[in-house]
Amino acid sequence: MEQTFIIIKPEAVKRGLIGEILGRFERKGLRITRLKMDTISEDVARVHYGHHADKPFFSGLLKAITAGPVVMAIIEGPNAIAHVRNLIGATNPLEAAPGTIRGDFAVENPYNMVHASDAPETAKAEIERFF
Ligand code: CMP
Repeated sequence: MEQTFIIIKPEAVKRGLIGEILGRFERKGLRITRLKMDTISEDVARVHYGHHADKPFFSGLLKAITAGPVVMAIIEGPNAIAHVRNLIGATNPLEAAPGTIRGDFAVENPYNMVHASDAPETAKAEIERFF
């Protein structure tokens, strides 16, 4: 059984979309096995998004992810990493298909509502970082 990690970002929490987003993973048939609400510090955000440190949008990304409480979850199921990424849609909300979380609720980056691990190694590292 594969595990993945997601963050429901501050803008989604603020808009009251926690239940809607978690419900999409559950309705798909995936299981939420750990869940918590917390605020991400700037230090932790710098590590989490360290691979984007050289990008022009890095400071805006740090500001967005630390702007308020987030909800973090571990999600389990067969091919959970790929299923979750399909459910959330393309990184750029403009390219995210309608029916996906980003396609339905987001209009522009960095406010794309959800982060999800992109590979088994990142899922493991992100689960260890946040849980
Ligand atoms: P996430 O899946 O959390 O991983 C990196 C984040 O960087 C991404 O979602 C977006 O929130 C943000 N991001 C990616 N590309 C851009 C961009 N061109 N401008 C602003 N933010 C971006």
